[in-house]
Amino acid sequence: MEIRGLGALVTGASRGLGAALGRALAREGARVVLMARGAGDLERVVAGIRRQGGEAHGLDADIGAKDDIYRITGAAAALVGPLDLVVHNASTLGPTPLRPLLDTACEDLVRVLDVNLVGPFRLTKAVAGGMAVRRRGLVVSVTSDASVSAYATWGAYSVSKAALDHLGRVWAAELAESGVRFLTVDPGEMDTAMHADAMPDADRTALADPASVADRIVDIVRHAERIPSGTRLEAASWRAALEQAS
Ligand SMILES: NC(=O)c1ccc[n+]([C@@H]2O[C@H](COP(=O)([O-])OP(=O)(O)OC[C@H]3O[C@@H](n4cnc5c(N)ncnc54)[C@H](OP(=O)(O)O)[C@@H]3O)[C@@H](O)[C@H]2O)c1
Repeated sequence: MEIRGLGALVTGASRGLGAALGRALAREGARVVLMARGAGDLERVVAGIRRQGGEAHGLDADIGAKDDIYRITGAAAALVGPLDLVVHNASTLGPTPLRPLLDTACEDLVRVLDVNLVGPFRLTKAVAGGMAVRRRGLVVSVTSDASVSAYATWGAYSVSKAALDHLGRVWAAELAESGVRFLTVDPGEMDTAMHADAMPDADRTALADPASVADRIVDIVRHAERIPSGTRLEAASWRAALEQAS
């Protein structure tokens, strides 16, 4: 997919991987809409991109809030035209310190699912029809190794990411002939606020810089037509896996 001129919406883009993705996509010429709840942080990211000559717009919204979804898709389309790329990156761990399932309140599980699963589902529903009419679109969901490995205390987050992975596969199967593609990407461990919240004692020098992971995801977007829709990729090793498969 040619990045220059793409209309792109990245959720959770006020810091961490989402902000890095916004910068990387705009640097390559995409017209980006960045979404998060924290308007101040978001505006700083947007201003930084504009200073570098890129096109960026910020939308203050909660991906877990039903009423925000149609507002942001309408606003995004008004700002950059039809969306060609949506990146479901916003995510919550739920309450930290992380806790075992026996100590997880049902309400906390519901909130994690609302943000990490139902919000991306609503947003995809809102944009996929338009993409299908234009026979062009890519939806990338950012997942985690916690979606495939069962780590104690990561329960709510893990099940939300496992369901997000599978949602991508089902979307891919249902829209196989539509021109709309779905990919899921595990970014690997990164030095971000989320990682610090989950594992405050981790050795930060061992964690990836979100900017380098964002560059890999932009590369995935660039090569999306070569990757079967519905594939789950690891950002660090996707090229080798693709070459092995072909
Ligand atoms: N960091 C890692 O090691 C790691 C590993 C595997 C997977 N991941 C995945 O990578 C993605 C990015 O993570 P990160 O580490 O960059 O996280 P982060 O630094 O905590 O950033 C999360 C972003 O999402 C936004 N956000 C959170 N809740 C939101 C909501 N309800 N509505 C809209 N925006 C919301 C945050 O802004 P506001 O709070 O202002 O809304 C922020 O911009 C996530 O999907 C995460 O699960 C991360």
